[in-house]
Amino acid sequence: MILSQHTVQNYRNIERAEFCPGPGLTVICGRNGQGKTNLLESVWLLSGAKSFRGSKDQQLVRRGEPFSVLESAAQRDDGQAERYRIVIGGEGCEAAGVRTGRSAQLDGVDFGRATNLAGHFYAVVFAPTHLSLVKGSPDGRRRFVDAALMQLYPGYIAVYRRYIRALAQKNALLRDARRFEGAEQLLDSFDLALAEAGGEMIRRRKEYLEGLFAIAQKTYASLSAGSEECSFSYRPCAQDSEELLEKIHAARASELRAGCSTVGPHREDLIIKIGGEDARAFGSQGQQRSAALSLKLAEARQIARITGSEPVMLLDDVLSELDGARRDFLLGKLEGRQVLLTSCDAASFHHTPGGIWEMEEGRLHQVQ
Ligand SMILES: Nc1ncnc2c1ncn2[C@@H]1O[C@H](COP(=O)(O)OP(=O)(O)O)[C@@H](O)[C@H]1O
Ligand SMILES: [Mg+2]
Repeated sequence: MILSQHTVQNYRNIERAEFCPGPGLTVICGRNGQGKTNLLESVWLLSGAKSFRGSKDQQLVRRGEPFSVLESAAQRDDGQAERYRIVIGGEGCEAAGVRTGRSAQLDGVDFGRATNLAGHFYAVVFAPTHLSLVKGSPDGRRRFVDAALMQLYPGYIAVYRRYIRALAQKNALLRDARRFEGAEQLLDSFDLALAEAGGEMIRRRKEYLEGLFAIAQKTYASLSAGSEECSFSYRPCAQDSEELLEKIHAARASELRAGCSTVGPHREDLIIKIGGEDARAFGSQGQQRSAALSLKLAEARQIARITGSEPVMLLDDVLSELDGARRDFLLGKLEGRQVLLTSCDAASFHHTPGGIWEMEEGRLHQVQ
């Protein structure tokens, strides 16, 4: 996958920018707060996913403007060229004839919601916040695997939404089930929906994570030159829909007591161990970084393996966080892919064969 052209209008602090990255490494440099991450984030949106910073769509639109427009051209690995257009409606967008949220066009054809772009533009983003994949709560790890699956299998989004909707309804009911006549019957029907969608989520998670973890483990071993072992594992809460339904039923009494749903994919976690110990509690900062980096590189390999398309790599400010050896390792692993990288420190890239762009107060220009 190669992004060849990317035009941004009224996106965050960027009034207008035109960006033409090369096929290899492209560096976006500039001081803090100038809009480098904003630009990278706007490229990420082409994947159909939402902001990797967890922002709401409205927050992406330049303050005081009703909407933003992203227009891009990319070349897929099978040689096919695609043109994307994403319009993001912000405050007051209806008056300008624009829908709220992100809407997309592909090659001039209306595509509805931008999430429908999943499966067209492949990208992997790696930012300092991804350290939380190792250090943070289970929630972030679940989001990591679900986001990867949404990109790889467009059908996963529908399954995930069905699950989340049933879960929200069930939790609302559990909160005051005692006051409802017929609550148990209604719970049965939610449980059925949860088991059906949840079983499918587990099946996808299992299949994907098996491959991902094998690659991540190897990557970690070569990062630490074989001196340390990092193991990743996923123990699903059930093997399939049937078993999940049994487990949910068995938990009925305790769920009624707790006032919320306690069994299912929304409670699962990925376990990361370094040298046999829980990486979250015992890993050093360096070990945790290596584990996060291994997961991200494995994510990229999985996309290439499953789709046949190399993803565009978006590295936000991560090089300064890595020591020299890990930096070289990362850049070495990324050869042959398009890499868009932001950095406060332009000096270390003066001799790069790739292009260098500078972002200054939302204005972008090429310096090399
Ligand atoms: N919706 C918005 N409208 C205008 N400016 C915004 C918006 N959202 C963020 N910004 C501005 O973007 C700047 C941060 O940009 P960012 O890309 O994070 O910088 P960096 O170059 O450090 O990566 C801040 O000055 C922030 O106020
Ligand atoms: Mg930044």
